[in-house]
Amino acid sequence: MTNLLAHLSHLEIASPDVDATAAFFEKQFGLRPVGRDDDGTTYLRCWGDYYPYSLVVSPGEQPALVNMAWRAASEDALDEAATRVRAKGVEGVWHDERQGHGRSFQFTGPFGHTMELCWDLPRHSAPAELASVFPDRPERRSSHAAAPRFLDHVTIAASDVRAFAAWYSEVLGFRVMAFTELDHAEVTVFSVLTTNEKSHDLGVVLDSSTLGGRVNHIAFWTDSVQELLVSADVLMENGAAIEYGPSIHGIGEQSFLYFREPGGMRVELNTGGYRNYVPDWQANTWKPSTGSNSIYRNSAMPMSMTECFPPDAGKPSATEEGILPGTEDALVNPYARHGQG
Ligand SMILES: [Fe+2]
Repeated sequence: MTNLLAHLSHLEIASPDVDATAAFFEKQFGLRPVGRDDDGTTYLRCWGDYYPYSLVVSPGEQPALVNMAWRAASEDALDEAATRVRAKGVEGVWHDERQGHGRSFQFTGPFGHTMELCWDLPRHSAPAELASVFPDRPERRSSHAAAPRFLDHVTIAASDVRAFAAWYSEVLGFRVMAFTELDHAEVTVFSVLTTNEKSHDLGVVLDSSTLGGRVNHIAFWTDSVQELLVSADVLMENGAAIEYGPSIHGIGEQSFLYFREPGGMRVELNTGGYRNYVPDWQANTWKPSTGSNSIYRNSAMPMSMTECFPPDAGKPSATEEGILPGTEDALVNPYARHGQG
């Protein structure tokens, strides 16, 4: 299969408090608001995003993933991708124009996640006062100490990790890069997929709820480990809820930091790792004991990290239980220390 998709271009999340969420991303994380709809939906960008925005925050009763958008490799690839999705019995819908970009195909996949595929995305053109001195930069580097360069990936939750990976690999050409299986049970709890040489731009964690279409976290990229550590410092100084890290995942070997925005959504900052260009890569299966999540194999993942969005109504949230951050239940949590990059 020729490459159908090029990369993740933008995400839309819901927040019960759009203003607070947007203010957090702007004032604490260094994104820049670039647009707002009448209903409060706010569009934000990182300084290095190639398109006008990478994050859309819209009103919703609970934190949730509303839409994940990938740019196709070409206009023909977009049509081919839509054809392949429809051949699987998923009808989807074509939009002529949506949220400032051109024709796109939007569908809801077999585990309830809404995905949008597009080709005609305008390239970002910075206003004169924000133009970079470097020709390839879409905008000058942010002067905010915690500002990520651009959007990196999204990690969703699905009731069958291997079936999710198989569908997106077969239909849309994602390469499946790794799995994590529990040490003491043949239960696959995590997988990473990619459309390009990155270790992943789509992750999937096991969802033990009966809810569909949930998300575990959204992730942004910064250029160096040093910048990630400064970001962690800045977030701490400003009272952000740091949930896990900084540390290094075994899978992908990326440095990570997880925190929460005021709407409740988990946000990750990533850097480092390596590139993998092997077209017929065969995914290995990691175990927590081989360092899937923590390369040093010495830190338990906080229980709160298993919380997905929207939250399961039957379970109190980690925030409500006051266990964010913390590791109180990590040793009895079956998913503790599983790879969740
Ligand atoms: Fe991640």
